[in-house]
Amino acid sequence: MKKLWGGRFKGNTDKVVESFTSSLSFDVRLWNYDIEGSMAHVKMLGKQKIIPRKDAALILRGLAEIREEIQAGTFKFRDSLEDVHMNIEHALIKKIGPAGGKLHTARSRNDQVALDLRLFLRDEISEVEKLLRKLQQALVSAAEKHVGTLMPGFTHLQKAQPVLLAHHLLAYFEMLERDCERFADCLKRVNVMPLGSAALAGTTLPIDRKFVAQLLKFPRISENSMDAVSDRDFVIEFISSSAVLMAHLSRFSEEMIIWSNDEFGFVELPDAFTTGSSIMPQKKNPDVLELTRGRTGRVYGHLMAILTVMKGLPLAYNRDMQEDKEPVFDTVDTVKSCLIVLSEMMPEIRFNEKVMARAAEGGFLTATDLAEYLVRKGMPFRDAHRVTGEIVRYCIDGNKRMSDLNLKEFRQFSKLIGGDIFSYISAGSSVSGKKSYGGTSPRMVQARIRQIKKRGKRFRAEG
Ligand code: ARG
Repeated sequence: MKKLWGGRFKGNTDKVVESFTSSLSFDVRLWNYDIEGSMAHVKMLGKQKIIPRKDAALILRGLAEIREEIQAGTFKFRDSLEDVHMNIEHALIKKIGPAGGKLHTARSRNDQVALDLRLFLRDEISEVEKLLRKLQQALVSAAEKHVGTLMPGFTHLQKAQPVLLAHHLLAYFEMLERDCERFADCLKRVNVMPLGSAALAGTTLPIDRKFVAQLLKFPRISENSMDAVSDRDFVIEFISSSAVLMAHLSRFSEEMIIWSNDEFGFVELPDAFTTGSSIMPQKKNPDVLELTRGRTGRVYGHLMAILTVMKGLPLAYNRDMQEDKEPVFDTVDTVKSCLIVLSEMMPEIRFNEKVMARAAEGGFLTATDLAEYLVRKGMPFRDAHRVTGEIVRYCIDGNKRMSDLNLKEFRQFSKLIGGDIFSYISAGSSVSGKKSYGGTSPRMVQARIRQIKKRGKRFRAEG
C-alpha cells in the first residue's frame, strides 16, 4: 500500500520492517482521542481560514463517520499503515477525497501522538481517582465497624503494642490519600496542550493553539515546541505514581495474606475471592492478594522501562518514544483491576475480633505503658525503661503475664508503683491512653473517621 509519507521513496517498505515498526496493535486504543484531537484541530484550521470552511466541515463529517464505523466494529484497520493516526487519516482521504489531505496541515504525528496520550491519561487519571476513593471508602467502613477491636500492632513483624484494628486500616486510607494527591498533581502536567508544535519547530501557518486548547478543555498550552514533542515526563509521573500506589496495594495484600494464615488467624478471606488447590483439597489460597502483590512487579518494570527509553534521547522526537505506550497502557489496566478487585473484596473480609484481641493481651505489649506510668510518677524514661525490663524478665522467669503480678511483686521493682497500675497495663487501657494526636485511642480514631466522612460529604456535594 502506498504510504501517506511515500513521496520521496522509490521502493516499498520491507514487510519485516512494516511489522517491526507498527504500533497499531496497541495504539489502536487511542482511536477515540485521535479523532477528538483531529476534530478540534480541523475546527481551528477552518476558523483561521488556513483551509476552506467547507473542507473543514467535510473533514469533520468524515471523522464522525469513521468514529461510528470504529464503534460499530466495521472499520478496517491495516497494520501496513503503521499506527492508529495513519489509519484514520488514510480512511478519511479515501472517504472524502483530496480535502481529507488537508487535515494534517500544521500538524505532525509527533504533536498528535503527544496530544492523544495526554487526552487518554487525563481520562484514566480521573478513573483511577474514582477507584481510589472507592477503596478508601471500603477501608473507612471497615474501620468504623472496628473502633472497638483490639489487635497487636507490630514492628519488625514482632508484636509491639496494642492498637485498634480501625487505626491499622486507616493507615492504608492515609497511603491512598497521598496517592490521590500524587495523581491530582500529575494531572497538572498531563493537562497541557502540545498540538501546534508540529514536527518540532512550530509552523509558518497562522494557527490558534489557545482555541484548540479551549475546545479540548486544556487549561494550558505547551511553551516550547521542541519540549512538547519530546516530553514524556507526564508518562513517567503517571507510572511512578502508579508504582507507589501498587506498593501500597501490595503491602495491604501481603498483610492480608499473613493475617489469613492459620498461625495468625486474624482474618477469614471470602470464598469468592480465594481459590482452591488442584491437589490439596483443604486449601483456600489468597490468589487475588498474591496477584496484586505480584503485579506490582509489572508496574515497577514499566517505570524502569520508560525511564530507560527516555534517558538517552536527543531532542526532539525519536521513534524510541513509541515504546511509551505499552507500559502506560498496561499500568492503567493493572492499577485499575487491582483497585476494583480489592475494593470489592474489602467489605467481605471477616476480621476475627476474638483472635485479634487475644493476641493483643499477653506478650508484654503494654510494657511501654508501664514505663510511661513510671515517667508520670516522676522517674526519668531511661530508668523507667530499665525497671520495666526487669519486671518483664521477672515475668518470663516465673512464666507469668504482667497482669498476673500482685502489687507487692510490682513494688519490689519500684516504690513509685501504686494500686492504680492495673488500670494501665491491659490492652484496652493501653489503647485508650494513646490520646496523642494521630495516636490509636478510640477518641482519636473516631475523630479522624468523622473528619474523613465530613470531607467525603463535601466532595459529594461539590460533585
Ligand atoms: N506511532 C508513533 C508513536 O507512537 C507516532 C509518531 C510517529 N512519528 C514519526 N515521526 N514517525 O510515537
